[in-house]
Amino acid sequence: MTSLHTSISDILNTALGSQVSAQGWVKTRRDSKGIHFIQLNDGSTFQDLQVVIESGAIPEDTLAHATTGACVSVTGELIASPGAGQSVELKARELQVYGPADPAIYPLQKKGHTMEFLREIAHLRVRSNTFGAVFRVRNALSFAIHKFFQERGFIYVHTPIITALDAEGAGAMFRVTTLDPAKPANNADDFFGRPTYLAVSGQLEAEIFALAFTNVYTFGPTFRAENSNTPRHLAEFWMVEPEMAFCDLDGNRKLAEEFLKYIIAYVLDHCPADLEFFNKRIDNTVLATLEHVAASAFEHVTYTEAIRLLEKSGRAWEFPVHWGVDLQSEHERYLTEEVFKKPVVITDYPAEIKAFYMRLNEDNQTVRAMDVLAPRIGEIIGGSQREERYDVLLEKIRAKGLREEDYKWYLDLRKYGSAPHSGFGLGVERMMMYLTGMKNIRDVIAFPRNPGSAEF
Ligand code: 4AD
Ligand code: MG
Repeated sequence: MTSLHTSISDILNTALGSQVSAQGWVKTRRDSKGIHFIQLNDGSTFQDLQVVIESGAIPEDTLAHATTGACVSVTGELIASPGAGQSVELKARELQVYGPADPAIYPLQKKGHTMEFLREIAHLRVRSNTFGAVFRVRNALSFAIHKFFQERGFIYVHTPIITALDAEGAGAMFRVTTLDPAKPANNADDFFGRPTYLAVSGQLEAEIFALAFTNVYTFGPTFRAENSNTPRHLAEFWMVEPEMAFCDLDGNRKLAEEFLKYIIAYVLDHCPADLEFFNKRIDNTVLATLEHVAASAFEHVTYTEAIRLLEKSGRAWEFPVHWGVDLQSEHERYLTEEVFKKPVVITDYPAEIKAFYMRLNEDNQTVRAMDVLAPRIGEIIGGSQREERYDVLLEKIRAKGLREEDYKWYLDLRKYGSAPHSGFGLGVERMMMYLTGMKNIRDVIAFPRNPGSAEF
């Protein structure tokens, strides 16, 4: 077996009568009189390859090990399938079992496990229908993200994972240290000679690159140590962050809308079988919602207008609403799901509740912030026009109680050749929830990290 295997996806498109070899994992096996059926899957497509084995074609002691979960190689002829559910099937002539999976103990023996149970077997859940579909969609989404920016001439930059900066100025970071927690020590004795953390965002470094390459994006893992055990938060998640020089908040908003529509259209186009599955088994509104969003204009309201809508809703909010409060998920959901019934971009939030780097408006109260909210998910994108004026930025850093010396190079960017610029961040897992209808963010990332859990 020296050559690259032919995928089941390719085999399903091969001419009838061809001799083929397929490798994969047995999803199910059915035996009836004189004939055996194996559904074989290698992850290349949602569709299984049906293998038909006539009694006597394969030695009984080999066939006995080709049970659910086993890894096998089958060679034979591709023939038209008389059964419903598939147009072709593989009539086996040879069968080899690479790795059996004892039916008495194989955890995925039966269908219908809960998501919670499947999370405990993250090394095996990827072989199930649901997680096969999730990770093919995630792959297509990642490629679409690159394709969108590459087609527009954006430069891809790799921003660091270990950083000394709090990019959001909001705390809740994981400390990176080689110091022994049991022994008292100075920061100066630490590996980098100063406290360092896992990055919460690549934005500040992306700004360095935008002020040299104009349009850039960073796409990588980010880390937040908030203790929020919700279905929408992870401690380690992936974020794509474009940053554009010579771009204001309007340009930023338009790019975000174009970007979301592009990646939705790409996934609709490239993963029809997987999306069909989500629509049938996970959430029967997924396809209609995606098609609707890809085709209609997003709504845009200012924060002030959003507060007015919430105040006159007549609802009894768990978190009371008045100008100045941060929007909670109940408010975001009301706006997207009940008022507008589509994605909404909210701009110009109070400076108080947003990060230090956002550009201050003329009113000295609000900043050029934007959040894109999606039905079911809430905030999916956060972004802003950046404060490019040295003095105003310095003032904001001080007012937020941040240490000026920590932001020296960030301030320097405003001292030498500053430019108006903007950017945003899309949470890849939030987008995945939107695309798939999956209810818990832990089920759209391979190995979720959240408080109290990092087994895999
Ligand atoms: O709104 P956030 O915090 O914005 C930033 O980090 C900016 N630096 C982005 C930028 O302007 N370049 O995060 C951006 C997005 C959120 O809208 C959300 O989709 C996702 O990242 N996100 C999370 N996803 C999963 N788990 C968490 N704990 C998340 N926190 C944010
Ligand atoms: Mg945000």
